[in-house]
Amino acid sequence: MNETKARDELTRLSRSLFDRGYSVGSAGNISMRVDDGYLITPTNSCLGFLDPARISKLDFQGRHVSGDKPSKEVFLHSAFYETRPSAGAVVHLHSTFGTAISCMCGLNPEDCIRPLTPYVVMRVGKVALVPYFRPGDERGGTFVRDLSGRFAAVLLANHGPVVSGKDLVSTVYAAEELEETAKLLVTLGDRSVNYLSDSDVAELHRVFG
Ligand code: 13P
Repeated sequence: MNETKARDELTRLSRSLFDRGYSVGSAGNISMRVDDGYLITPTNSCLGFLDPARISKLDFQGRHVSGDKPSKEVFLHSAFYETRPSAGAVVHLHSTFGTAISCMCGLNPEDCIRPLTPYVVMRVGKVALVPYFRPGDERGGTFVRDLSGRFAAVLLANHGPVVSGKDLVSTVYAAEELEETAKLLVTLGDRSVNYLSDSDVAELHRVFG
């Protein structure tokens, strides 16, 4: 995809997430890989009203080369690109239910969204928990880097989800799937729940990769 198209696609999908309530105000940031670097939403921008020409561009070393000042969460995004070479996009949201779960006590740090439905397994996989750091703290990126690419998605404690994927569309779909699963988990509350078994999960990985 050429860069003009990539900018338009980033603008279109960001607006779609905003319009459907996955992001409010200036919360959230999205990046995607292009031929000679990365596009990332500017800091303090609203996902609903991006100007494609002003989207920030970084080179492969993470240096700002054009556009407005990049998101303060650039460290999180670059940690995914560095540790998951197949990653073509990263989506960070403060979506309500994923963020609600990120505030809960007693989460399993290596599996904080339990396998409730097939699609969360197929589109997202296991989700790790990143301890609380203030927004923009480089230690968040260091923590993700130290996960060594084992997880395509994380929940930032008391903050929200970050999801990576092979391209922008599939990453947005995965972020939506994660949010819907979080909504189901919050809706189910403390009812007793049938989670998918290890063999159900293994079958999904075998059949769908
Ligand atoms: P930016 O406006 O710098 O992208 O930060 C928004 C955000 O979601 C912080 O986590």
